[in-house]
Amino acid sequence: MTPQEPTYKLRCIESGDTYPGNEIRYRSEKGGLLEAQHDFSKLSITRQLLDERFHSQEFPYRSGVWRYHEFVLPVAKEHIITRYEGNTNLYPVGSENARERNYSTIVGDFAGARNLYLKHLGENPTGSFKDLGMTAGITQAKALGCKAVACASTGNTSAALASYASLAGMQSYVFIPEGNIAYGKLSQALAYGSKTIQIKGDFDDAMRLVQEICREEHIYLLNSINPFRLEGQKTVAFEIIQQLGWNPPDWIVVPAGNLGNTSAIWKGLREFHQLGFINKIPRIASIQAAGSNPFYQSYKNNFSTFEAVKADTIASAIKIGNPVSIPKAIDAIRKSNGVVEQVTDQEIMDAKAKIDALGIGCEPASACAVAGTKKLIEQGIIGKDEVVVGILTGNILKDPDATVNYHLGKLSEIKGTFANQPVQTDATVESIKKYL
Ligand code: F0G
Repeated sequence: MTPQEPTYKLRCIESGDTYPGNEIRYRSEKGGLLEAQHDFSKLSITRQLLDERFHSQEFPYRSGVWRYHEFVLPVAKEHIITRYEGNTNLYPVGSENARERNYSTIVGDFAGARNLYLKHLGENPTGSFKDLGMTAGITQAKALGCKAVACASTGNTSAALASYASLAGMQSYVFIPEGNIAYGKLSQALAYGSKTIQIKGDFDDAMRLVQEICREEHIYLLNSINPFRLEGQKTVAFEIIQQLGWNPPDWIVVPAGNLGNTSAIWKGLREFHQLGFINKIPRIASIQAAGSNPFYQSYKNNFSTFEAVKADTIASAIKIGNPVSIPKAIDAIRKSNGVVEQVTDQEIMDAKAKIDALGIGCEPASACAVAGTKKLIEQGIIGKDEVVVGILTGNILKDPDATVNYHLGKLSEIKGTFANQPVQTDATVESIKKYL
């Protein structure tokens, strides 16, 4: 433990109890979730300064997370472990806004959204939004002097943890549900050098076990129950607002599994509002896979009940039945006047086919953003002309099996509605010409 107490604290979201920011703890004495609490009162950071940093090549501001250093984790710069994550594209893809860039409107047309943007967090260094949180989490681990870190994961968190921990020279352990993570992600954890522990169980089992092991073995836990992960992830809200010239969108639509991202985006919006950088808060729409929908079911009951489910979906990233961040996510939906929706695996894969065919692509879970937008527009909840930002959480190359099998018509119970089937030909010019 460093001798001097940092300026930020850990605050229990239920009781309001606070703990020093450099204490290793993930829950309050009574078991409530913690969040990082900053003292913004002494900061004199303006929009103009943030815009200057937006174009800066200087360490650490070139990172889309550390551009907001003081709001994220005000530790000494020498602790920062960054891969210059963030700075990902915000693609205008609706029939109204795509004109700005001459982009195709197939995704906007499919969803019925005329002012749709896609924020592609799959363009981060390890191919998912997890890098935003991991740079903050590993930096905090470094500042605390931790030697080993661990997480449970459906794949992307493990890829990010493995990468950042190795870069920082730390030992890392990842707990993954055996046979339930996409190959691209497994390959990353192995290749980056993480001790990869395949659990004969599901993600919810892995999550339970990693918490126990970390407590007993004094390993630093870097799931999104660790509040510093969410501090990094909240910068996606900051970056979207800066990219839109400080004009917040009407909606942010986000895929939802363990509910870290929903919670983090809300915290980012709330803080930018509190700092006076924006005067309107976008509504958050959290989208779950219908086979892994405990948050949706709770929403339908006005959040009066919560029951974990046995999760099942082709979107393995969000195959989660007992999400850790549920109390924070309930706050996000209530206070942003948001909604929760569910989409079927067929809807996910069809939306993904359109995002892929646009030329940018994503992994299955990410397509919830577009499938959810389409559904909410059809229901009249989102207006056709409202400005909507859909969050694409992971890269298309994370899960090539899902993509190829969709196009080959090999997925059980999912039709290749928009399949682009390959053709086979003899090795002659004449034979090939038949297909041109
Ligand atoms: N999309 C992708 C691609 C993900 O990997 C995840 C979560 C989510 C969406 C859901 O985000 O949990 O913040 O609601 N993946 C975690 C993992 C659980 O272990 O990689 P969430």
